[in-house]
Parts: sequence; C-alpha cells; structure tokens
Amino acid sequence: MKDHPILKAARGEKSDYVPIWIMRQAGRYSAKYREIRANAGSFMDLCRNPKLAAEVTLLPIHEIGVDAAILFSDIFVPVEKMGINIDFVSGKGPVLSPVVKTVDDVEALKVPEPEKDLPYVIETIQLIKKNLTDRPLIGFSGAPFTLASYILEGGSTKDYLAAKATMWNSPELWDKLMTKLSEVVTKYLISQIEAGVDLIQIFDSWMGVLSAEDYENHVFPYTEKIVNSIREKYPETPIIHFGVNSSHLLGINNRLNVDVIGLDWRTDISSTIEKIDKSIQGNLDPVALFADDRIIVEKVERVVMEGKKARGHIFNLGHGILPKTDPTKAKFLVETVHKIGKTV
Ligand code: CP3
Repeated sequence: MKDHPILKAARGEKSDYVPIWIMRQAGRYSAKYREIRANAGSFMDLCRNPKLAAEVTLLPIHEIGVDAAILFSDIFVPVEKMGINIDFVSGKGPVLSPVVKTVDDVEALKVPEPEKDLPYVIETIQLIKKNLTDRPLIGFSGAPFTLASYILEGGSTKDYLAAKATMWNSPELWDKLMTKLSEVVTKYLISQIEAGVDLIQIFDSWMGVLSAEDYENHVFPYTEKIVNSIREKYPETPIIHFGVNSSHLLGINNRLNVDVIGLDWRTDISSTIEKIDKSIQGNLDPVALFADDRIIVEKVERVVMEGKKARGHIFNLGHGILPKTDPTKAKFLVETVHKIGKTV
C-alpha cells in the first residue's frame, strides 16, 4: 500500500500514472447510491450504518474505477455527538439546532470520544479495509472554521455573518469554540488513522470567504495545531488540506505541515506551485463533466500537464461532483486521466 501512486504523489515521489479520486464520489449521481439511500432512512442514518456506509464507500471503485475510496460519512457526524441536532431539510440544506450563541452554549458542547461515541465510524473503516486491499482509503474531517460556520449560523450561509461577527466581536466565545472543535477534529482524525485509513483530508471548504489577515489571525492557528498533533503521533500518514476559492491563502497554508494542498478550478496550478512546496490535488471544474468528451480530454490534458510541474499531483475535481453528472462521464474522466497521465 505504501507504494500506491496516491501515497507516492502525496509524498512527492514519481509514479507511472496520475492517480485520481473525486470529491463526493459516493453520491447522488450514482443510481445505486440513490437506491441504497432511499432504503436507509435519513442521510445521517446512512452515515451511522457501517454495513451500508461501507457498501456506498466502495461503489465508485467498482462503478467508475477511481484509485482511492473516501470514507462515506459527513462533516456533521462528529458534530451531532457534540450535542447538536442535524436535519437535512429539502431546499434548505443542513439545519443545526440548537444554534450556539453564548460561551455557556460552547461549554455545554461535548467532545466526543470516538471509540465510545462514534463506534460506527470505526466499524465502517474496518469493514472497508477488509474489502479494499489494493487501494488507499481516505479519512476526513471538516476543519474548525467550516464546522463553526454551520454551528454559529444554524445552517448554510452565503455571507458567513454569524461566524465573522463572532470572530470579531466575541473573541472569548470564538476561541473557546475553535479550541473545542480542534480537540474534536484531532481525536476524530486520530481514531480514523488508528482504525486503518491510509491518508486524511481536512475540509476547510469555506475558509476562502475570509481575508488573509482574518484567516491568519483567527483560523490558521487552530488548523495548524490539529495538523501538528496528528503529525506528531502519525508522521507517516499523508494529510491533504482543501478549501474552495482560497488561492489568496496559499502562502499562509503552505506553512501547514501537510503533504498536499487541494485546489479548486479557479486556481491556476502554474502560479500556485511558485507559492507552495507541497503536492497538489485537483482541479478540474466539476461542470466540465457536462462538456463534450473532446473538451473533457482537452481540459484533463491541461490539468495533467500543469500538474507535472508540481512536487506531486493527485487528480480530482476542484470541488464535489454534481448530483446531475452522468456516471458514464465520471468513468470517462477516470479513464482519460489514466491514459493521458501515462503519456504526457
Ligand atoms: O466525498 C465523498 O464522497 C465522501 C462523503 C462526503 C459527504 N460529505 C457525503 C454527503 C464528504 C467528504 C462530505 C463533506 C462535507 N459535508 C462538506 C465538505 C466538503 C465540501 O463540499 O466542501 C460539507 C460542507 C458537508 C455538509 C453537507 N453535507 C452539505 C452542505 C450537504 C448537502 C445538503 C443537501 O441538501 O444536498 C451534505 C449532504 C451530503 N453529504 C450528501 C452526501 C453524499 C448528500 C446527501 C443525500 O444523499 O441526500
């Protein structure tokens, strides 16, 4: 497993093809996923069901041939065990309650002990590892800022008003919440590594809404602490750090002790690699899978060529695959990356 192209690319070693996995690769674009999901109860029920979550995790390996599996779960799985209820309301996205508003509310939040409070995640990982011996399994967690944005807002937001206002106006509340979330994320990721995941991705999906100054002062130190704690314990497990629309933060994030920085499609790879000394992951526009095949080929060629200049390159979309994507296009993408990655 140590010599798998994804792990080699993460470490900056050359391999004979460009490996690919796709964010949200186990999702609604797959008919089989929709069928399993329809019979599983709620989405969170599916995340808590090891047998079904393991089955769903492995679907894209068989259906589209990606080089790695990513644990089927959600960034809200540990949040629920902090004492916050999560509902997915049609048309509204996730709804979290109660909404955290005071220091006392933060103090009431629990830090889940994964072995005791999240045994189904550990069991899911163990089940996947039994059935997936030739490719890596990716574990993941949301990062404190992205999690805090939902916890303070009570759901999705366009302007991140609650998170930013709390960060500026209530520094004590902010620090207590971010510190607690850092502890939750660290324990959660360590438990995933101990259960058998081969690499991890930290989703700080929404960090790009912050100015560099706010990110550096109010967010970066918490993520840095998480990364360092994991590194200290498991120096061999590669870490990917990802966020959307965050090229203005690359210089700061390059100081994280991670192996790979995930890029969205707006980010130019050539100018990125001048700013960072990490491997890269990405960064085809998810909407490119709605283009004609010849356009997909052209776009893949460009990403692969640019990726060759980086220390290492794991191909991915720049963000999650869209639910309306035709699965044959996703399969075509994987085949194209494998073919082009060998020849370029
Ligand atoms: O990548 C994978 O395939 C692994 C599984 C995964 C899911 N969510 C499954 C999921 C991962 C890694 C996530 C991460 C996640 N979840 C993030 C960060 C990644 C990103 O998108 O930047 C965030 C912000 C969430 C929170 C979340 N979960 C949202 C906003 C939604 C969409 C709500 C909606 O109404 O569609 C979800 C639901 C979700 N997570 C689905 C899946 C497959 C769809 C649920 C369904 O089947 O109906």
